[in-house]
Amino acid sequence: MPEPMPQVRDAIEIELEHHQQATRDVPDRPERAVLEVDNVNVYYGDYLAVRNVSVDFGHNEITALIGPSGCGKSTILRSLNRMNDLIVGARVEGPIRYWGQDMYAPGIDPIEVRRRIGMVFQKPNPFPKSIYDNIAYGPRVTGMSVASMDDHVEQALTKAALWDEVKDKLKQSAYGLSGGQQQRLCIARTIAVQPDVILMDEPCASLDPIATLRIEELMAELRDQYTIIIVTHNMQQAARVADRTAFFTAAIDPDTGERHGELVEYDKTTKIFESPADSRTEGYISGRFG
Ligand SMILES: Nc1ncnc2c1ncn2[C@@H]1O[C@H](COP(=O)(O)OP(=O)(O)O)[C@@H](O)[C@H]1O
Ligand SMILES: [Mg+2]
Repeated sequence: MPEPMPQVRDAIEIELEHHQQATRDVPDRPERAVLEVDNVNVYYGDYLAVRNVSVDFGHNEITALIGPSGCGKSTILRSLNRMNDLIVGARVEGPIRYWGQDMYAPGIDPIEVRRRIGMVFQKPNPFPKSIYDNIAYGPRVTGMSVASMDDHVEQALTKAALWDEVKDKLKQSAYGLSGGQQQRLCIARTIAVQPDVILMDEPCASLDPIATLRIEELMAELRDQYTIIIVTHNMQQAARVADRTAFFTAAIDPDTGERHGELVEYDKTTKIFESPADSRTEGYISGRFG
């Protein structure tokens, strides 16, 4: 394997330094797994998109899913809250346990699964409603008993680090906010229904660097209360925010010629970036940094 270019190494070292300042000691393995993916295959019709994935996601940890386009990161992320149920032909094979309970077992309500395990998307997607009503909507439709909706809205916006910016214009349309504010509003909307896991699929892909840093700081604040699983194309972002990182790739099956996504390596972020066990991880990281 060729030596990575010096500036590439420097970039990794700088981000890891930030990472180490910003994060706590991470145990070698998650102490409490909130989600256990156990030998899972995901199909679209007959097409096996991702195969044989096993990974335990730690409670109150931030985990990044990285890898080239089409390797199945979004597919796996959506399988973690049964969002794939909404895609015709999508099928998950093998258990995914949420606090030990198979979330695909008969009798499990997918709506309740999605309340506990919320999702934030690549493009901010506020409802065409006021800032206030974006937050109040979920608690209302799920029939949550909230002592005071005003207080509840304030708390969700405060946790999402948006309250100070919007407290004087709660009745205005969410569409008047900047992209970064809209994304924090979507995080607040997720928080408002009291989840314990927040899934994020490239949440900063449409944001400028300042708004991106604001979301990363927010993630670090939220980690104490929530478990965060984030798909990102940005290696520096994974190095900055994630306690653990899972590297996926897509390999061609020599017999069928079909491409299937798979998990190559899952470990502490420092390990993945400093001394990955698999040469495919090393190759991807060196190529993508700098
Ligand atoms: N709704 C869908 N229907 C059929 N195939 C899909 C669908 N979504 C994704 N795929 C396929 O599954 C594979 C993994 O896609 P995806 O999970 O979106 O990858 P990533 O998020 O890593 O870019 C790709 O081959 C993609 O074309
Ligand atoms: Mg994707």
